Amino acid sequence: NQLEQLPIPLLQWFQEHARVLPWRSDPTPYHVWISEIMLQQTRVAAVLDYYRRFLDALPTVAHLAAVEEDTLLKLWQGLGYYNRARNLQKAARQIMEEFGGVFPASYEEILSLAGVGEYTAGAISSIAFGIPVPAVDGNVLRVVARITGDRGDILNAATKARIRAALLETMPKQFPGAYNQALMELGALVCLPNGAPLCEQCPAASFCTAYQEGLTGELPVKAPK
Ligand code: ADE
Repeated sequence: NQLEQLPIPLLQWFQEHARVLPWRSDPTPYHVWISEIMLQQTRVAAVLDYYRRFLDALPTVAHLAAVEEDTLLKLWQGLGYYNRARNLQKAARQIMEEFGGVFPASYEEILSLAGVGEYTAGAISSIAFGIPVPAVDGNVLRVVARITGDRGDILNAATKARIRAALLETMPKQFPGAYNQALMELGALVCLPNGAPLCEQCPAASFCTAYQEGLTGELPVKAPK
């Protein structure tokens, strides 16, 4: 299994190449949550200004739970997918009412928050709480499908479950947050989609199935919907 060879070179690469991002300097659960929701449909460069303004106006879960909806939507204006903002407030109210105002600290409880799916729950759990669970987004699916040579359709639930299980088994349990972010970062900066991966810069090139077998153009498989 190629993934067993990944943690050490990938963590080292991440230490050298990680972008300096505001949510990385102070990764509280609230900060990680807001950043991950913003990043779901929006590029990092566009999120930066929104992230700062949002946290200036609403520095805590309690502020978010109590804010007027039009103030909230104004903070979100331009990011699109406004249900993300409404779900943030719904979840903030859940945290106030069901969890006594304290951000829940288990994967299952985090997953129970409005607007939080498996990916976001994995990101918050690993980055903010150090819980060893994967956070599998589109970038991570592409990276792992190429390294392992997985020919399954990455839009298919069975493929996602297989990749998630393989990551869970091989992730460095002391550094889940850095590892998950390193996988995302590799997908964003090096293991690019389409015909354009920068394999000569990749810390996994020597054991990557797609690179070794000339399949980076075929993988990942993404069947038309
Ligand atoms: N995209 C979404 N979340 C990210 C993170 N924490 N690091 C890098 N890219 C991301």
